[in-house]
Amino acid sequence: MTVHTDLKGLRAAVTGGTSGLGLALVRTLAKRGAQVAFVARTSDAVSRVAAETGALGIVGDVGRKTDIHAIALQITGNLGGLDLLVNNASSLGPVPLALLADTQCEELEAALATNLVGPFRLTKALFGALAASARQGREASVVNISSDAAVNAYAGWGAYGASKAALQHLTAIWAEEAREEGIRFLAVDPGDMDTPLHAQAIPEADRSSLKRPEEAASEIIRSLGLDEPRLALTVEVRP
Ligand SMILES: NC(=O)c1ccc[n+]([C@@H]2O[C@H](COP(=O)([O-])OP(=O)(O)OC[C@H]3O[C@@H](n4cnc5c(N)ncnc54)[C@H](OP(=O)(O)O)[C@@H]3O)[C@@H](O)[C@H]2O)c1
Repeated sequence: MTVHTDLKGLRAAVTGGTSGLGLALVRTLAKRGAQVAFVARTSDAVSRVAAETGALGIVGDVGRKTDIHAIALQITGNLGGLDLLVNNASSLGPVPLALLADTQCEELEAALATNLVGPFRLTKALFGALAASARQGREASVVNISSDAAVNAYAGWGAYGASKAALQHLTAIWAEEAREEGIRFLAVDPGDMDTPLHAQAIPEADRSSLKRPEEAASEIIRSLGLDEPRLALTVEVRP
């Protein structure tokens, strides 16, 4: 049996780690030896994923201001620092999707709280830890999960699309401002994936035409180039 430990030493935090892309990232990172913490709101699911993967599960809502510091402290306290933050948790806004004229202001605010302000707050709370990681010569990265709805004006996707467009631009500005600190910022569109979020948005979609979240997770890890320098650590374990 081959056990990959090529991400050993990497300290990673993933929001929305109990479903879809976030769950696939937690599983993949943990399986490859990284120390992983993840966040989601539903405690049963958090316990289940923590038990399955050995990752640290944190119950919290990234859209709630009062949860952010507790989340950040648990991440850095348990991992002893942080090298990779993936802001993945997301809200669609109104479900079923609604035209802007039929969207409540509170639904727009909820989408912005989870998809834009939450990632901003969490990144700010973890910025010092990421800068410390970069100073130690490690790769310090923030990946903000975006969408093609950030650039295309799809009818019915107003709250979600506007929040993702703002997140994408925020990421570009973070990237400029954090360059001196040595922290990389990337906005990544994972493509249409077969996940509960997609099923909520487009229940009639042909699931067989959608990308598997595991594939998107591997693409994201590969795009960070985190696996390359550590390949020598892959070990063979014989049963
Ligand atoms: N699926 C697609 O086709 C697609 C396409 C483009 C982009 N994306 C993006 O990919 C990312 C992952 O989407 P997905 O499809 O994998 O979603 P998903 O299957 O619905 O999973 C969402 C995860 O986020 C958690 N979550 C939601 N709101 C949260 C909050 N306020 N605080 C903490 N955790 C929260 C959920 O758990 P709880 O509900 O228990 O909190 C769950 O673990 C999102 O950023 C999405 O916008 C998806």
